Amino acid sequence: MGIAKAKKELNWADLGFQYRQTDFRFSATFTDGVWSQGELVSSPVIAVHEGAPALHYAQQCFEGMKAQTAPDGRVLLFRPDLNSERMNQAAGRLLMPEVPYELFMRGVEETVRANYAWIPPHGSGASLYIRPMLIGVGENLGLRTAKAFEFRVFCSPVGPYYKSAGMAVISLAVSDIDRAAPAGTGAFKVGANYAGGLLATRQAQALGANEALYLDSATRTFIDEAGSANIIVAMTGNRLVSPKSNAILPSVTRRSVMTLAEQYLHMQVENRPINLREEIAEFEEVAACGTAAVLSPVGKIWVDGQWRKFYGDGEKVGPVMQKVYDLLVGIQRGELADENSWTYEVKID
Ligand SMILES: Cc1ncc(COP(=O)(O)O)c(C=O)c1O
Repeated sequence: MGIAKAKKELNWADLGFQYRQTDFRFSATFTDGVWSQGELVSSPVIAVHEGAPALHYAQQCFEGMKAQTAPDGRVLLFRPDLNSERMNQAAGRLLMPEVPYELFMRGVEETVRANYAWIPPHGSGASLYIRPMLIGVGENLGLRTAKAFEFRVFCSPVGPYYKSAGMAVISLAVSDIDRAAPAGTGAFKVGANYAGGLLATRQAQALGANEALYLDSATRTFIDEAGSANIIVAMTGNRLVSPKSNAILPSVTRRSVMTLAEQYLHMQVENRPINLREEIAEFEEVAACGTAAVLSPVGKIWVDGQWRKFYGDGEKVGPVMQKVYDLLVGIQRGELADENSWTYEVKID
């Protein structure tokens, strides 16, 4: 297929984090124990049976990743092997077939390549968000695994998750709703974790916060994560700490940021439970991190009926998060040397 080289005429810098229909998506099906080759299709609509387990019992999982344009025009993914691995962990947890790495990457690369015109140019601050998904389809009624599955990849050009270019300082409110049980599905990127969080987000927003902050559901003591991002905390003594929990998503961004902080900023990095109320006095800077959120500094957290503020009276971006952001984004956009070989080029020609 010939690739349209001209870019769409979009106001790239004004894009928000919304779905925008692009030209092609990839689809492969699993029936009788075998994956089809898969192909690009143009319709954004999936026709599924009314009995599909994805619709009733949330037998589905998904991934989120981004493609960005480097200064020299190369199109870069960031650590896609970790997304493939995580999708297969979710597949195993929900009794769905694994998507072989080769199929996952072919689906992602073909989707990116076919929608080249929609990939935001370098310097726009925007990127191409990629959503691989695996759903249980076909006729079913009782609670049992689907007989057929679809692996689909679509994409959409997006701007910042929180409205404001660059780093937006956000706020979180501790939720009294639980996101995930200790031995439940919190560590997997499955749709079932998210519908239950819509109310928590709404309640947090009613308090003037951007998002809910979940504590561990067993004791409501330790930080778990935010609605769509992991948490990192810069603490006194040049430490960068992230919560260890069986109930949170193993964020690709968080794992990368912790490595960069150790490697380049010589910080002491710790992955351990964080007791919110006992340790909050030592919090110097806090951030939410994820593919969509990138690294969003958290200026304040609503805890037990009051706002607890961090760097710059809760209004400013602190020096640690600024440095970590610059390193992460610089590598993802191909502006800084990629010493860990984390970026993956999607060849366009
Ligand atoms: C609940 C949740 N936590 C954390 C993250 C961040 O993970 P990643 O950095 O792999 O995007 C996401 C997705 O962006 C998420 O949905």
